[in-house]
Amino acid sequence: MTNLVEFDENTKTFHLHNDLISYIFQVEEGGLLSHLYFGKRVKQYHGLMKYQRADRGFSGNLPGSLDRTFSPDTLLQEYSSSGIDDYRTPAVIVRQADGSYSSRFQFDSYEIQAGKPMLDGLPSAFTENDSEAQTLIVTLRDEVTQMKLDLLYTIYEDRALVTRSVKVENQSDNEVFLKKIASMQIDFPNQKFDVINLPGAHASERQMERSRLNRGLRSFESRRGSTSHQMNNFIALTSPDATEDQGDVYGFSLIYSGNFKFEVERDPIQQTRVVAGINDYNFSWKLKAHETFQTPEAVMVYSPTGLNGMSQTFHHLIKERIVRSRFQNMDRPILVNNWEATFMDFTEDQLKPIVDDAKKLGIEMFVLDDGWFGHRDDDNSSLGDWYVDKRKFPDGLRHFVDYVHDQGLKFGLWFEPEMISFDSDLYREHPDYLMQVPNRAPSPSRNEYLLDLTREDVRENIINQVEKVLRENAVDYVKWDMNRHLSDIYSQALPADQQGEVYHRYVLGLYAMLEKLTADFPDILFEGCSGGGGRFDMGITYYMPQTWTSDNTDAVARQRIQYATSLVYPPSVMTAHVSVAPNQQTGRITSLETRATCAMSAIFGYELDLTQMSAEEQAEVKKQVEWYKSVRHLIQFGDFYRLTSPFEDNGCAWMFVSPDQNEVVVDTFQTMSSAQPLSTITKLVNLDPNKQYQDLETKKIYGGDELMYMGFFNPLYHHDYASKKYHFKALNRH
Ligand code: GLA
Repeated sequence: MTNLVEFDENTKTFHLHNDLISYIFQVEEGGLLSHLYFGKRVKQYHGLMKYQRADRGFSGNLPGSLDRTFSPDTLLQEYSSSGIDDYRTPAVIVRQADGSYSSRFQFDSYEIQAGKPMLDGLPSAFTENDSEAQTLIVTLRDEVTQMKLDLLYTIYEDRALVTRSVKVENQSDNEVFLKKIASMQIDFPNQKFDVINLPGAHASERQMERSRLNRGLRSFESRRGSTSHQMNNFIALTSPDATEDQGDVYGFSLIYSGNFKFEVERDPIQQTRVVAGINDYNFSWKLKAHETFQTPEAVMVYSPTGLNGMSQTFHHLIKERIVRSRFQNMDRPILVNNWEATFMDFTEDQLKPIVDDAKKLGIEMFVLDDGWFGHRDDDNSSLGDWYVDKRKFPDGLRHFVDYVHDQGLKFGLWFEPEMISFDSDLYREHPDYLMQVPNRAPSPSRNEYLLDLTREDVRENIINQVEKVLRENAVDYVKWDMNRHLSDIYSQALPADQQGEVYHRYVLGLYAMLEKLTADFPDILFEGCSGGGGRFDMGITYYMPQTWTSDNTDAVARQRIQYATSLVYPPSVMTAHVSVAPNQQTGRITSLETRATCAMSAIFGYELDLTQMSAEEQAEVKKQVEWYKSVRHLIQFGDFYRLTSPFEDNGCAWMFVSPDQNEVVVDTFQTMSSAQPLSTITKLVNLDPNKQYQDLETKKIYGGDELMYMGFFNPLYHHDYASKKYHFKALNRH
């Protein structure tokens, strides 16, 4: 296989490359790693780009050197130490046994491996065979403290990305504490950048923001123990002129589901540093002599073709090398979920008519949401008691599941395994299972409390209960929910000097549970959820191929949420359902058509009481289901491109195109109508300009070039919240 990683012994330069990208860094004076380049493939690098030396006041120099032109404070570094002579935000901070926070990590050695190693206890991008990627491991050492860092870099042969992670080893005989340990750092030379990030709130996730990067340090982070609705673990740096389809874009994300921090620092001479990894907030990890610590993995994407180019790279990685389940490439079922239909107020007899109607309308799975277990009539009780409520299912859950299966539908079930209610048998039996600071009453959130997942006995108890339900009831799908964030961080199982490990150990505990469950039930389709899309990240996606995108099912709000989610995540991991109008979250009334057009741009389903729909509405649902089935594979596994933005325009448009460019679905939305409507145009992308495409509805034929370069006028609507979908197929002639 071709070399994807090269090392030039003379100049001590590492060059990771494939046809799309080059990533170059060099061992500089003092054994420091100097970052040189990340971008489009450079085939002939002769050392043009190199650290530019200058004597700059108040930027110190290397110990023992009289050369005032070399300063670690201005060097573009690969992974910076702390407490010495680089005043920018560091990648690693270790508190030594003597109380010092200083370290100086210097190049020691390197190794190039075929393939990509999996990370201990953590999800990561994988390879299918060793020939598709190579991994460079650069070892740094701090001579004084005897700490060793392995910087792992993987490059795939055909993806415009590099994955990174770090493994620390304490080679000394002392106990030390990791105070900060980033998964990646990259330093860019002076250039203008915008930063894009995804802040939000419950039912309002990923409200994309973009701003100019000025001097100073900005951070985008979660301190909530989970990825969170409030900030997704992704940022992009773009050239100021970057749009969806042009300009330089660097995208960074973590394969991790806990506290994270992305720091972006523009230094005094306008160089930009990005450091990303586990949040150092209340983080302190005891590393005993000769112990190791592995960070989560970071993904760094480069796109010379704007945001869509970046998203394509993320989407393909996620679809092909993050989603690990056997459902990776399988069409996902259209479901009906009873949550917004009944909430917790239901019995088997009341649910059966919904199942009957679902069957009649061609829906393929019934999902029983919250309220089937313990004595859960509201959200004050029963989390932790994963056994069926006989009041609601007098003949047991299996009786109902058999009914669903007999109708030819699959059966899905909701769990919230990480939480506990005070009013539960589990709490009465094991009050110590609760995460709680000694002598301090824990804070409720949605009247629920956290289980201490850092403890193996707690995890085992829950997994045994969940697995029993799954086994006894022939469950086909699981919705794994998490309806609060972490607080009252303390584990009774850990000593005082390890309480700073709880946040991360919680996530490791969660991953251990998911590892076991997905291994024991490979035929179950798992869907992640956290009060909607509060834990939408690649760590969860590794175990659970799809995630509930938001509790907000309003078609207008959803355009923004799905649009921005698609910056990183492909439609095959986003779920979207049609719910009632007026919408329960926003009160907005939108047509059944618009609700469906939006929901059909992802993994599709309904979340309403089908039995309450009129005959006309049901007939429309039947057609929607039929239509979705006819384009499902394209929607779920084709290439997705954003065309116009709901953050900038009066509506938006996006499209799906098959890899052979023969089939296209386009969805367009307009938010407000007006008395003097503007004529707006939708232009498609990534078609074959030489092919002819037929609009399956009108039977009209258009050139690929025509659809891309000229585009078509959107209808002039006389109502708000309009939408229209198009389906084109290429004709077999040119
Ligand atoms: C969360 C989920 C919803 C539903 C409820 C049930 O809010 O996002 O879809 O499952 O919990 O309590």
